[in-house]
Amino acid sequence: MAKMWAGRTSGETEKIADDFNSSISFDSRMAEQDIKGSMAHAAMLAKQGIIEEAEADQLIGGLEGILSDLQDGSLAIDMTAEDIHMFVEQVLTERLGDVGKKLHTARSRNDQVALDLRLYLRDQTDDFLDLLKNLVKVITDKAEEYQDAIMPGYTHLQRAQPVLFGHHLMAYAMMFMRDYDRFTDCRKRINVSPIGSCALAGTTYPTDRFFEAEKLGFDSVSLNSMDGVSDRDFCIEMMSCIASCMMHLSRFSEEIVLWSSWEFKFIELSDAYTTGSSIMPQKKNPDMAELVRGKTGRVYGDLMALLTTLKGLPLAYNKDMQEDKESVFDACDTLEMCLKVFTGMLAGLTALTENMKEACRNGFINATDLADYLVRKGLPFRSAYKISGSIVAWCIEKKKVLESMTIDEYRSFSEVFEEDVFEAVDLQNCVNLRSSFGGTGKDSVLYQISFVKEWIKHD
Ligand code: ARG
Repeated sequence: MAKMWAGRTSGETEKIADDFNSSISFDSRMAEQDIKGSMAHAAMLAKQGIIEEAEADQLIGGLEGILSDLQDGSLAIDMTAEDIHMFVEQVLTERLGDVGKKLHTARSRNDQVALDLRLYLRDQTDDFLDLLKNLVKVITDKAEEYQDAIMPGYTHLQRAQPVLFGHHLMAYAMMFMRDYDRFTDCRKRINVSPIGSCALAGTTYPTDRFFEAEKLGFDSVSLNSMDGVSDRDFCIEMMSCIASCMMHLSRFSEEIVLWSSWEFKFIELSDAYTTGSSIMPQKKNPDMAELVRGKTGRVYGDLMALLTTLKGLPLAYNKDMQEDKESVFDACDTLEMCLKVFTGMLAGLTALTENMKEACRNGFINATDLADYLVRKGLPFRSAYKISGSIVAWCIEKKKVLESMTIDEYRSFSEVFEEDVFEAVDLQNCVNLRSSFGGTGKDSVLYQISFVKEWIKHD
C-alpha cells in the first residue's frame, strides 16, 4: 500500500523495511489516547477557525465511531499499518473522505506520539497509585493482625535484636508510601502537554495550545516546541519510579522466600500463591516471590535501555525514540502484574509466630539489653559491652542462654547483677523497652499503624 506520506518518495517500501519501521504491534495500546487527542485537536482547529465547525463535528463523530468500533471488536487493528497514528487517520479518511485529511493540520506525529504517551502514562500512574495504596493497606492489616508477634531482627542476616513482626512489616509500608510519593511527583512532569509543538518548531497556524491541553486534562503546556517533541525524561522518570518500587518488592520477596524456607519457617504462604514440584512431593515453592525478584532485573534493563537510547540523540525527534515504548510498556506491565500478585500473596500469608519466638531464644538477641542493664547499674557502656560479650561466650560453651543462667552465674561476672537481670533479658521486655520514636516498642508500632491508616484514608 502506498504510504500516506508518499510524495517526496514513491512510498513504495520493501516489506522487510515496513516491518522494521512499524510500531503498531506495540503502540496500538495507545489507540484510545490517540483518538481522544485527535478529538481535542479537531475541536481546537474549529475554535480557531482553521477548519469549519461542521468539519470538526464530522471528524469528532468519525473518531468516536472508530473508538467504539475498536472497543466492541467490530474494527480490528491493521497490523500492517505503520503505527497507531497512521492507522486511525487512515480509517478516518476511508470513512469520511477528504475531510479526514484535514485532521493532521497544525500537528505532526512527533507531537502526537509524545501526547499519546503522556496520556497513557498518566493513566498508568493513577493505576499504580491505587495498587500501591492497596498494598500498603494489606501490609498494615497484617502488622495489626500480628501486633504481638516477636521475631529476631537481623543485621548481616545474623540475629541482632528482637523486633515485632509488625515493625518489620511496617518498614515496607514506609517504602511503598515513598514509592507512592515518587509516582505522584513524576505525574506532575508527565502531565504537561506537548501537543502543538508540531514537527519541532511550532506552527504558522493560529493554534490554541492551552485550549487543547485543558480539554485533555493537562496541568500545563510545554514551553519549548523542540523540547516538547524530544523530551522522554518523563519515561525515564516513570521507569526509575518503577525500578525503585520493584527493588522494594524484590527485597520483600527475598524475605518471603527466606521466611518460607524450612530453615526459617516464619511464615506459611497460601496454596493459591505457591506451586509444587513435579518430582519432589514435599515442596511448596514461593514462585510468586521468586518471579517478582527475578523480574526486577528485567525492569532495571528497561530503564538502562532507554537511558542508553537517548544519550546520543541530537534534537529534535529521531526515529530511535520509537524504542521508548517497548521499554516503558514492559516496565509498566511488569510492575502492574507484580503489585497485584504480591499483594494477593501477602494477604494470604500466615505468620508462624511460635517459630519466630523460638528463633529469638537462640542467638543471644538480648545481649544488647544485658549490656544496657549494666549501664543502668552504673557501668560505662564499653565495660558493660565487654562483660556481656564474655557472658555470651561462656553461655555458648556451656550450651546455655541468658534466660537460663542462675543469678550466681551472673554474679561471677559482675557484682552489680541482681534478680532484676531476668526482667532485663526477657524478650517481651526487650521489645517494649525500645519505645524511642520509630522504634520497635509496641506503642511505637501501633502509632505507625494508625499513622498509615490515616494516610490511606486521606492521601
Ligand atoms: N511511531 C513513531 C514513534 O513511535 C511515531 C512518530 C513518527 N514520526 C516520524 N516523524 N516518523 O516514535
